[in-house]
Amino acid sequence: MNYSNIIPITKRIPANRQGAKRHYGLHPYFTRRPFNVVRDYILNFSDRGDTVIDPFGGSGVTAIEAFLANRIGIQNDINPLANFIASSIVELTKVEVEDILDHLNLVERDCKENIIEIQNQDNSKIDIYDFNVKLPSNVELPSNSDVRSYFDLFTPKQLLSLAILKNQIDKIDNPSMRQVFLLAWSSTLARINKTFISTRGRAETRGGSSIFSIYRYKVAKDIVELNTWEWFYNRFRNILEAKKEMMHSIELNQRKGEWLGQFKVYKLDVDELRNLFYESADYIFTDPPYGGHISYLDLSTLWNSWLGLTPSEEVRKKEIIVGGDLKFTESHYIQRLKDSVKSSFDMLKDGRWLSIVFQHWNVDYFDAILTAAQESNAELLSAVSQIGDPIWSMHKKKGKESVLAGEFILTFLKKSLIKGVKEDRRMDVKGIIGKILQGYGNKVIYGEYLLNQLVIEAWKYGIIKELKLKKEDLSKILNEHGWTYDSKNHYWCKTDKPKDYLF
Ligand SMILES: C[S@@+](CC[C@H](N)C(=O)[O-])C[C@H]1O[C@@H](n2cnc3c(N)ncnc32)[C@H](O)[C@@H]1O
Repeated sequence: MNYSNIIPITKRIPANRQGAKRHYGLHPYFTRRPFNVVRDYILNFSDRGDTVIDPFGGSGVTAIEAFLANRIGIQNDINPLANFIASSIVELTKVEVEDILDHLNLVERDCKENIIEIQNQDNSKIDIYDFNVKLPSNVELPSNSDVRSYFDLFTPKQLLSLAILKNQIDKIDNPSMRQVFLLAWSSTLARINKTFISTRGRAETRGGSSIFSIYRYKVAKDIVELNTWEWFYNRFRNILEAKKEMMHSIELNQRKGEWLGQFKVYKLDVDELRNLFYESADYIFTDPPYGGHISYLDLSTLWNSWLGLTPSEEVRKKEIIVGGDLKFTESHYIQRLKDSVKSSFDMLKDGRWLSIVFQHWNVDYFDAILTAAQESNAELLSAVSQIGDPIWSMHKKKGKESVLAGEFILTFLKKSLIKGVKEDRRMDVKGIIGKILQGYGNKVIYGEYLLNQLVIEAWKYGIIKELKLKKEDLSKILNEHGWTYDSKNHYWCKTDKPKDYLF
């Protein structure tokens, strides 16, 4: 494969978030990327047998898709929960459907009755210490939580029913099978706790935990106690579907030729991973944390603690975020973001590609990424705004034009010599915006798209640091150019009825 001849992806790929059971519905995680977009990038920029690394792997979409596409998928994340989810999904390929069903029957035989009996009791009459089950440690929760300690996250019924299930699963001998069952249990844990908020007007089971919606341990006003056994049992429908899907992908590749797929997991800080994989990746697709929105380690306490995976203080200090319980500063974040992007390029072989997903109002963050790329001899060859899908609209609904959602995928080619940025040129922000808007005549434009174009222009002019853009400034300039915000459709438009879409 001649990597430098690869034509980069320059158009948005419509996201199919729910299209694969191996990612959607198995276990929740933060900012999971749409599998089909990740897969198309992997297929475009790498070859079979290639090493594909995601240093900020999260729930493992990149490494799992790379593995299923007959590549060597390297999953890395500092968060044990992320690696637990990713590796448990892959463990599914190592167990037989019949064995899963046999084990499910055994767990049902030994737990179901007990759990249902507890479920039918009154919470005020239950003393959790009366039961002979191992309970998790009652650790302290992140400081911005509604409640102080771990047990406060559960009603007695919830805590006990989960503990009974966990005790039974821990007895499964086969490690792969045990991990598959723990995946189902851990996914159940996400709903069977007081942070679960039922969507109003829908079935009681519809909804989700505040951990994933407002990124905080907020306890629901009206606590919903879903049926633990039923929820756990029903997880297996998705698990079996996911298994079928993955086996199908593997068999398809095996029929085409030699099967080279592998999946490996690392739990290192990105800068440490660099030393292990120096100049050995054929492609990197990654999605670093975006500033201060999500404190991954704090928020994963619910799982890491009960799964016995609590990260050490030393590991916690390495998380790349703004804020959190360790109160990381923004300048620390920017420096670490820049270093981690450099580490990622260090892991890449010369003449290979790297895609990075990012989105933020703070252009200093983009500057950190683009400068790191430049210092690593990488050339930016495509920048695609992935906006407009249903999750994007959902985020937009929360906060109108000031909310940034959707991703921006920057793709670089690492080479020995690169063109430098045009230096010492002045950039007229208003003028540039005008030019971008003019190019679209009567069409509509998304705020994110405009910002993304501006960032790239500013970088070309070598003035990204000076581009201190505020959301209000952007709205003002757009208004001055005669564009208005359509809060129903979340885009800017010049005419009342836009005729055409940008994307
Ligand atoms: C935006 S998420 C990635 C989500 C992923 N793309 C997915 O589809 O699930 C960023 C990840 O970076 C991880 N992270 C934060 N600091 C890190 C560090 N220093 N080294 C490695 N991973 C880190 C977080 O735990 C989090 O899972």
